[in-house]
Amino acid sequence: MTDKNSSSLMEKVISLSKQRGFVFQSSEIYGGLKSAYDYGPLGVELKRNIMNEWWRSMVHEREDVIGIDASIIMHTNVWHASGHLAGFSDPLVDCLISKERFRADKAPRPVSGDELPIECADKGQAKSYLEAIKKRYNIELKRNGKVLLGMRVIDENNMGFFENDNEKPSATFPYRGYVSPKFGSPFLSDERQFNLMFRSQIGPIDVLGDITSFVEKNKDLDNKEMRTGIEDIVKKSAVYLRPETAQAMFVQFLNCQQSMSMKVPFGIAQMGKSFRNEVTVEHFIFRSCEFEQMEMEFFVEPGTQKDWLNYWRDKRIEWWKKLANDPDKFRYRAHETDELAHYADACYDIEYEYPWGFDELEGVASRTDYDLKKHSEHSGAKLSYFDQQKQDPETGKNGWRYTPYVIEPAAGVTRGLLVYLLDAYHEETVPNADGEDSSRVVMKLHPRLAPIKVAVLPLVKKEGLPEIARDMVSNFFKAGINARYDEQHSIGKRYRRHDEAGTPYCITIDGQTKEDQTVTIRNRDTMEQERIPQEDALLIIQKRLMES
Ligand code: GAP
Repeated sequence: MTDKNSSSLMEKVISLSKQRGFVFQSSEIYGGLKSAYDYGPLGVELKRNIMNEWWRSMVHEREDVIGIDASIIMHTNVWHASGHLAGFSDPLVDCLISKERFRADKAPRPVSGDELPIECADKGQAKSYLEAIKKRYNIELKRNGKVLLGMRVIDENNMGFFENDNEKPSATFPYRGYVSPKFGSPFLSDERQFNLMFRSQIGPIDVLGDITSFVEKNKDLDNKEMRTGIEDIVKKSAVYLRPETAQAMFVQFLNCQQSMSMKVPFGIAQMGKSFRNEVTVEHFIFRSCEFEQMEMEFFVEPGTQKDWLNYWRDKRIEWWKKLANDPDKFRYRAHETDELAHYADACYDIEYEYPWGFDELEGVASRTDYDLKKHSEHSGAKLSYFDQQKQDPETGKNGWRYTPYVIEPAAGVTRGLLVYLLDAYHEETVPNADGEDSSRVVMKLHPRLAPIKVAVLPLVKKEGLPEIARDMVSNFFKAGINARYDEQHSIGKRYRRHDEAGTPYCITIDGQTKEDQTVTIRNRDTMEQERIPQEDALLIIQKRLMES
């Protein structure tokens, strides 16, 4: 059995992802691009299957939700209105010794009296940091192997250098209240706000030329004035890659509602790429700069948002669990008031128990009427809804015009893919052909998510068996089922390869097939094989996929 909590599970999943073609490091032959990933031949199928399942449950199977596919680059005023340009930023800090860059709000916070040991990677690094600290701060910390000692927190604003266990500090310095996460260094820069949106320029504008002439003409400006002047030039033609798919649903609220005659409550759904220049990228594809989201904005009558929030929270967690082997690893958690985004009056995170503990997979937020109101203010468009059947609660008159409230289930596709890879990974001890114990790795992906639904394997590459197998594969294709013809290596190795790919069914064509037109069908999870008529294979697979 697999120990799903072992930290090595992550390493095993990353390694299998590469070997079997689920996920590759982006631009690997050039040394790789940090935080960017490519989805390989199996990964692209798995990703699409997750998205198709989401679309089916959120759009196709519902009368009250419609879909859109909006552009990634939107009008810059969208981001002014949504608050992303002003508020979508992280407080960033640099360690002045190690150059480690990190988010201040996520850093460890030692308190009064705590030691501040600086934990270096090795002795060599410790020696060089010791020197750097001596040069910059004129103090000589004590080195114990790869750890530098002597700094201690005095109070929330001050820290001191304490030599030889002295009670009194030999030197004191301002303390920021936190240390760098990797080294524990308290020697830090000021906090700087860092916008998470990727900026680019649109149109035939020579920004560099404009900046050069501005600098030429304004040589006597100080640093701050020069920066503001350059920033103004850049902003004129700046566009941003969307950091969430959500805003298009607010901006297109009226077009969608009117073109499809939708009545509140109703939702607009979208799946697609989002981009965030994340400061901390971590845990493989868990947090990356380019990722995919599946979001739905559900517009409701004011006052009904709490019930709808609970409704979508339950719906969404059920969806994740239904496609997983281990539903107990999913839970939801209500946000504390100080965690809530500026637009939300309540929010739940749907969390998964990753190898590093419970962490976010999807947010289900009650976004109030914030976004529609902000876009109305900034654009001048009337983003409201008129309900002829209702009485206006203020005037008591028939007919009520109001700005709908919004419930937003916002899930990560690529994060979901990681969750299902972790959930699927199993190591088992099973008998081999000689009845001896052998180990196998099997990806128990839900059949609806499995990249390849059925592999068709001729036992040998001759005697007409490949022709029969290819014929069968082509019938699966015609029925819209992703099948794969596979004749490489022994039958045992092929089974194991498809176990690792998560292929739920393998059909083997052997000598008996030619005699009595039967084939064997092997179940990935139980490894049981049964003989079935060749002509029934398609129907049987179709039925099993439908019922899964
Ligand atoms: N519209 C609301 C919104 O975007 P969010 O919590 O920032 O909310 C929703 O993002 C989901 O998108 C997250 O729960 C996560 O699954 C995914 N996500 C966000 N940032 C991500 C990143 N940098 N890498 C991978 N997935 C990310």
